[in-house]
Amino acid sequence: MQISLGRLCPRRRRSRCCLSVAMLFVVVVITIRIFIASVECSREESIRILKQLCREYYNGNVVGNLCSDLCDTYSLQFVGCINYHGGKAVFRMKWKEETVILKAKKQYINDYNLPIYIETLSDIVKMVADSVNFNLPVKPGTFTDKELFTKLWKDDFEKYIVHDELAAGNSKTISWKRAACNSLWSLLQQDEYQLIALYQNYSYFPQLYGTCGHFYALNNMPPGDLLSPFTANIVKIWNQPWKSRAPVALKLINLMQNFDETFSQVLHMCDMKGENFGISEDGTVRAIDVDMAIFENRLESDLSYSNCTKHDDCSFFDCHGWCDVAAKRCFGIRTNNNLQILCEKILQSHGSNAFTGLLHSPPSSVPELTSIISECAVPSPPMSLLPGCTKAGKSVRCLITPDKYPIRHRAEKKYYDILRALIVKSLK
Ligand SMILES: Nc1ncnc2c1ncn2[C@@H]1O[C@H](COP(=O)(O)OP(=O)(O)O)[C@@H](O)[C@H]1O
Ligand SMILES: [Mg+2]
Repeated sequence: MQISLGRLCPRRRRSRCCLSVAMLFVVVVITIRIFIASVECSREESIRILKQLCREYYNGNVVGNLCSDLCDTYSLQFVGCINYHGGKAVFRMKWKEETVILKAKKQYINDYNLPIYIETLSDIVKMVADSVNFNLPVKPGTFTDKELFTKLWKDDFEKYIVHDELAAGNSKTISWKRAACNSLWSLLQQDEYQLIALYQNYSYFPQLYGTCGHFYALNNMPPGDLLSPFTANIVKIWNQPWKSRAPVALKLINLMQNFDETFSQVLHMCDMKGENFGISEDGTVRAIDVDMAIFENRLESDLSYSNCTKHDDCSFFDCHGWCDVAAKRCFGIRTNNNLQILCEKILQSHGSNAFTGLLHSPPSSVPELTSIISECAVPSPPMSLLPGCTKAGKSVRCLITPDKYPIRHRAEKKYYDILRALIVKSLK
């Protein structure tokens, strides 16, 4: 069907009207192009970012255990870019025959708050430990300050200090200690880096290989066809056999239970989508985008104290908050939980994920599975919800203020067990 501008405009004011329609069309096209440019990445721009990183390294502004591989020997090479969401840079790289991911929250070192320069190694160690203890709920006594520092900085620090001491008095020599401080502070400003680096001994996040400046390298574990519905062909996902979908669902359920129970506080996944999880070569499912994985106390303070008139005003992405409507204040609690949002956004095949729900069409041996997943996704009390709260459409209504109850931000263990048992049964 062809639509001409003339047909859209009445005969009397045709030229003016045609001009307005044409201008509107141009504005729409430009807006779409700007939007695409802001989320898409270009090869040229990515190479520019990496060249600038190496320039900073040659000039002595940044260091890291991977800088030499990237900038001197070229054994760490650019392959392609993945995205620039909100200024984040994610690159696919080749490193010693292996594909790795190089990531930074902001593209250039100057995008971070710099520099904080500290004289002695013990002060630097203390500063890093304070930053980690402030951001993450490390149980007191679990790690010494030096151990925390070693987890967060993958390079030798003392060699930079020794270098500077040997070069003392020569004003032309580069201060490698300053470069190390710059790099370390830029990394500490990335919550995702801190989380991944600190918890490397768990299999919940990708392996961290090292850093150069503000960039850090992780092992490559893409979401694949099963978890990345928008890049993959929907028909392809729909046709994936139950035997490949169910084990991934099981591992996601286990991962969410681990986030609920392993740490001293619940780790809340506030951005729940398939593409934020990856499947590694050994088959483990790990969280690859943890910018919005937030520990309990931090989430509580983030959710509280803003003004609201309805519960939705108090939500932080997938972490739903609660509005004290009378006081017009957000209460600072999460009213849903990790398991509920996993069921809603990834497991069930309903609503926006009608064609991509991981657990669509279960086998006849588990006829109750679909209704259990729906219940988990849109719970009626007591499953997943605080006592005294009910689900009304998309939002939660609490009849009694939640402070009357012990706060429960995680699903009860039995709900994990029920889901797990059904999936295991379906695979027999
Ligand atoms: N470790 C990784 N292995 C493979 N792919 C990854 C990894 N980390 C990120 N990606 C890919 O890059 C995309 C964007 O990274 P992500 O951290 O999710 O950024 P954003 O905040 O822009 O969503 C992911 O959806 C995934 O496809
Ligand atoms: Mg993401």
